[in-house]
Amino acid sequence: MTETLIEKRSRLLGPNFSTFYKNPVHIVRGEGVWLWDSDGEKYLDCYNNVPHVGHCHSHVVEAITKQAKLLNTHTRYLHEGILNYVERLVSKHHEGIESAIMVCSGSEANDIALRMAEANTGRKGIIVTDSTYHGNTSAVSQLSYGRNAIGGTGDHIRFVRTPKTLINDKEKRASEKEYFAKNVTLAINSLEESGHGVAALLICPFFANEGFPTLEYGFLDEAVGQVRKAGGIVIADEVQPGFGRLGTNWWGYQKIGLAPEIVTMGKPMANGHPVASVVTSAEIIKSFRQSYGYFNTFGGNPVSCAAAEATLDVIEQDKLIDNALSVGTYSLNGLKALQNEFPQITQVRGSGLFFGAEMCGEDNLPLTEYAGKLAEKMREKRVLLSVLGPHRNTLKIRPPMVFSKDNADQLLDNLRSAMKEVECEL
Ligand SMILES: Cc1ncc(COP(=O)(O)O)c(C=O)c1O
Repeated sequence: MTETLIEKRSRLLGPNFSTFYKNPVHIVRGEGVWLWDSDGEKYLDCYNNVPHVGHCHSHVVEAITKQAKLLNTHTRYLHEGILNYVERLVSKHHEGIESAIMVCSGSEANDIALRMAEANTGRKGIIVTDSTYHGNTSAVSQLSYGRNAIGGTGDHIRFVRTPKTLINDKEKRASEKEYFAKNVTLAINSLEESGHGVAALLICPFFANEGFPTLEYGFLDEAVGQVRKAGGIVIADEVQPGFGRLGTNWWGYQKIGLAPEIVTMGKPMANGHPVASVVTSAEIIKSFRQSYGYFNTFGGNPVSCAAAEATLDVIEQDKLIDNALSVGTYSLNGLKALQNEFPQITQVRGSGLFFGAEMCGEDNLPLTEYAGKLAEKMREKRVLLSVLGPHRNTLKIRPPMVFSKDNADQLLDNLRSAMKEVECEL
């Protein structure tokens, strides 16, 4: 059955279209933190952040159904849905964030954010980290270091080194902050010398795709100060840490002490319905709208806004940000206990319901293959997770926000068994 589906997928959707796991999972149903495959086997979902308030949450499903039965058009007609939602969304951000553009994917949101920065500054230069991912449009895909664009990466892009994961060494962490700021300054100088100037620093404030290094409050202050001094704008990509995932705040930028001029959001925003957004100041949106006649056919339609509002309802009513903190802390402690049993776990880190364990061998060499095998073994045990980071040797655990302590126990018990079963040469 799976074999046939894989072949059909390749024929119809093209080759080189990756799946998770050597033995891909054929999922047919979801509820809360649970997924079921076509054979009726049940999996604990420790990976998917898009179903933020749980797979197929009834409140969101009902909101979508109710609105779909009534009306679904686009934003060139007047409708309260988008206005009610945007008012509620911007109120979750810091002062000065007043307006939004609603779109359908994080990639689109980042694409617009870059154009906003260009329109507002009159410059083109962009600074990003060297192991990030911000999406897949023509402009944004060039920001993925090492994935060569045909014709080469644009001359207006500068990559700075991703901060290292320094948990226990305060002194080194301080020098890492200086080092990051120094590299941003070098990037600014280089952009100015080449005539592009600085339009924006685009950054995930949790450095999620970069392996979520532990960074203290204020880590970005100096770098951001340099960008603003050069006339650039700071864009926070909240596609991964946003909507309370880190357990401490609504947004990752608040946790690190940043007040960005533009924020982009996506994935968890409407619990799986394709909704994303860019929020910014009235002034920046004005300069964008004056430069571009932007319209998005599906972005901000009544059904999408109903789904997004319902998602906010559940986050608030069920206190899911608090849940992320308590269950996340419990899980991290569980991982720390495992660290005593397995020396290959060299670091345990994360925040709220976004955490993981880094696997290294002798001389701190990344155990990339081993981490991959562990993820495969966990799949066999019907617990879904993945790996990430520059060396893909960190387990990536990022479940729906309704993840409970019982779920965490199931994850940890299975991980302990998997680590006993998968051979690790140290
Ligand atoms: C940080 C970040 N930004 C943007 C995107 C792109 O979002 P989308 O796939 O909705 O276009 C992703 C997707 O993984 C992401 O991780």
